[in-house]
Amino acid sequence: MRLKNKVAIITGAGSGIGRAAALAFAREGAKVVAADWAEAGGQETVKLINKQNGRAFFVKVDVSNSSQVERMVSRCLAEYEQVDILFSNAGIVKMGALHETAEADWDQVMDVNLKGVFLCSKAVLPQMLKQGQGKIINTASIAGLVGFDKVGPYCASKGGIIALTREMAVEYGLNKINVNCIAPGVIKTAMTKDMLNDPAVAQGFAANTPYPRLGQGEDIAMAAVYLASDESDFVTGQVLTVDGGWTAK
Ligand SMILES: NC(=O)c1ccc[n+]([C@@H]2O[C@H](COP(=O)([O-])OP(=O)(O)OC[C@H]3O[C@@H](n4cnc5c(N)ncnc54)[C@H](O)[C@@H]3O)[C@@H](O)[C@H]2O)c1
Repeated sequence: MRLKNKVAIITGAGSGIGRAAALAFAREGAKVVAADWAEAGGQETVKLINKQNGRAFFVKVDVSNSSQVERMVSRCLAEYEQVDILFSNAGIVKMGALHETAEADWDQVMDVNLKGVFLCSKAVLPQMLKQGQGKIINTASIAGLVGFDKVGPYCASKGGIIALTREMAVEYGLNKINVNCIAPGVIKTAMTKDMLNDPAVAQGFAANTPYPRLGQGEDIAMAAVYLASDESDFVTGQVLTVDGGWTAK
């Protein structure tokens, strides 16, 4: 087991990539805090983990709200007495031309995607510093590396995650706290469901992906397991791109 006796907080654990990661982490021996603002999805993830004899509990949290995030970490420490891994994965997207984007939509995407990563990291870092080690993994996107049409706030938030990941890796390297991010390509989840239901969009995605299929939550979950495990101790400040080759062209 690659994460035996580790404690992991996973945000956005109620769906898609976060659920796949929660299940994979638990299979590898981690005790999991499945955090999400959607209660039904989060509880379902816990049920699925329990079914595979893993240990997990759900915390309802809005990652853009500092007091809720602090409560999430307190609940983790009260139950498991440590936190070894933070997988900051919760995220949202809003589509539309940039010149028509409402300021409130810009703020919401930045608050959830980028400020959420800051708040969750800020809340776990004191405990990781006390423990003398830790692994922080953030879900960025290839949209933080290359341009995409009509997702301006999303691209900006994901580029910000990549920059913040590098900053934190430099700041906390000496403390043996590894900070990396994953940049997924197109992954079949609730977030991409509507886009993939449009045959023209789905065909465009497939044409841009050299590997002959789209991504699954599990593809990202296994990258996260690697970055959460001792196997990646000398890897920090990196962007692990998992995109079937989209950005290789
Ligand atoms: N699906 C893709 O193609 C793709 C590609 C690149 C990056 N990503 C990123 O992967 C991450 C996971 O997305 P997914 O594809 O699994 O989508 P998803 O919609 O299936 O899952 C996102 C989860 O995050 C939760 N969430 C959203 N806002 C939250 C908040 N403020 N507080 C707590 N929880 C919140 C949702 O309830 C949901 O359970 C996101 O950060 C997304 O930007 C996805």
